[in-house]
Amino acid sequence: MNLRSAVNLHDLRALARRRLPRIAFDFIDGGADDEACLQRNREAFARYCLLPRYLRDVTRRDQSVMLLGRRFRSPIGISPTGLAGLFHPDADRALAAAAREADVPFLLSSAANGALEEVVPIAPEHVWFQMYCTSREDINADLVQRALKTETRVLVVSVDVPVNSNRERNRRNGFSRPFRMTAGVAFEALGHPLWVLRYLRSGGIPMMKNWAPYANAGAGADAVADLYGTLTPAPMVTWEHLRRIRDAWPRKLAVKGLLHADDARQAVALGADALVVSNHGGRQLDAAPAPLDVLPAMRAAVGEHVELILDSGVRRGSDLVIARCLGANSAIFGRPTLYGVAAGGQAGAARALEIVRKEIDMVLAQIGCARFEDLDAGYLWPAPERAAAAARPPAIARRPAADAAATTTTTTETT
Ligand SMILES: Cc1cc2nc3c(=O)[nH]c(=O)nc-3n(C[C@H](O)[C@H](O)[C@H](O)COP(=O)(O)O)c2cc1C
Repeated sequence: MNLRSAVNLHDLRALARRRLPRIAFDFIDGGADDEACLQRNREAFARYCLLPRYLRDVTRRDQSVMLLGRRFRSPIGISPTGLAGLFHPDADRALAAAAREADVPFLLSSAANGALEEVVPIAPEHVWFQMYCTSREDINADLVQRALKTETRVLVVSVDVPVNSNRERNRRNGFSRPFRMTAGVAFEALGHPLWVLRYLRSGGIPMMKNWAPYANAGAGADAVADLYGTLTPAPMVTWEHLRRIRDAWPRKLAVKGLLHADDARQAVALGADALVVSNHGGRQLDAAPAPLDVLPAMRAAVGEHVELILDSGVRRGSDLVIARCLGANSAIFGRPTLYGVAAGGQAGAARALEIVRKEIDMVLAQIGCARFEDLDAGYLWPAPERAAAAARPPAIARRPAADAAATTTTTTETT
């Protein structure tokens, strides 16, 4: 199988799994604790069928959506994913370019390896900047200023990482911060020679470039990652921090990670233009509800004119259609484009977006709704019997712990 013959996002995942050393693949693929939330995110979609309407002219179909003041070609977008340089040396630029070509948004993480100043200019209409509030007010303010200077259109503040989570795959694999090429990791990586070659050619551990300006002059990737680890997560962050960011940022603001209707109301009262309804892809609170399940309550809380972007578990075109019927304006996904990037750089990310775009187009025709923006709850039908068999892709067989010591390593869980 290769990129062209990958027929769905699960195939891209399989390609990435082949390409990446286990420690890197599991960092993308895994979730927190028992990974129940990962499964819940998929099961939420499987509880819905789509009830088709026929004998309607669906020759011309339109899946474009208005989002934060701009029309995009498709309702899908790319979630922010830190440390993507570990999967491909040029991952952040590749994601930006793929988003530009597909005409969809890409949320660049502040924990990315690519710097804001180099990635935004690749696609200023498409790249939004996602940040966490750190423990340092001066750095928060500086990040906002840097985003303003780079002509970033949309700032996204993620709020769902008050502390690091427990990702057991990472712990078993000895995923440490800074990421280190230990003998065990290197040995396993030998089975993925292309990745090793790229890793060595690009200078080893990728630098978190957005943070280099705040480290000592000449600091290496390790030292910059250490600094990042002292600044985030920042458990002292409150609504007051968000208010300061809103005051300093005159353009569109989205808040990512809220799941409670009262929090949604508060964010909107504070001036948020959009909310990304997300549980961080099951990577933080394993007991969190699926964003799809809270979507109707979130819509009811914020009214019609605040945009809701669904995130976590989106894997099929029909998922976007269901999300729209339940009140989302659009949706984004994180892992699928990373699998694509790992499998084939920009072309791989583009393939992930193309697969979903075509699936959306086909579903719109099949249910007799020519415009994505015309979807409503009338197209939904409950499918309780599907829920049990829903979790896709099949669970990955657990491998034994790499070594006992690895389980005590400090882990990079903020991304
Ligand atoms: C490798 C990886 C890194 C991530 N880094 C960040 C990050 O830096 N900021 C953030 O807000 N979310 C981050 N996320 C969460 C994603 O933005 C998104 O919420 C999640 O991937 C959605 O779930 P999905 O992968 O099932 O689509 C990361 C996710 C992954 C897989």
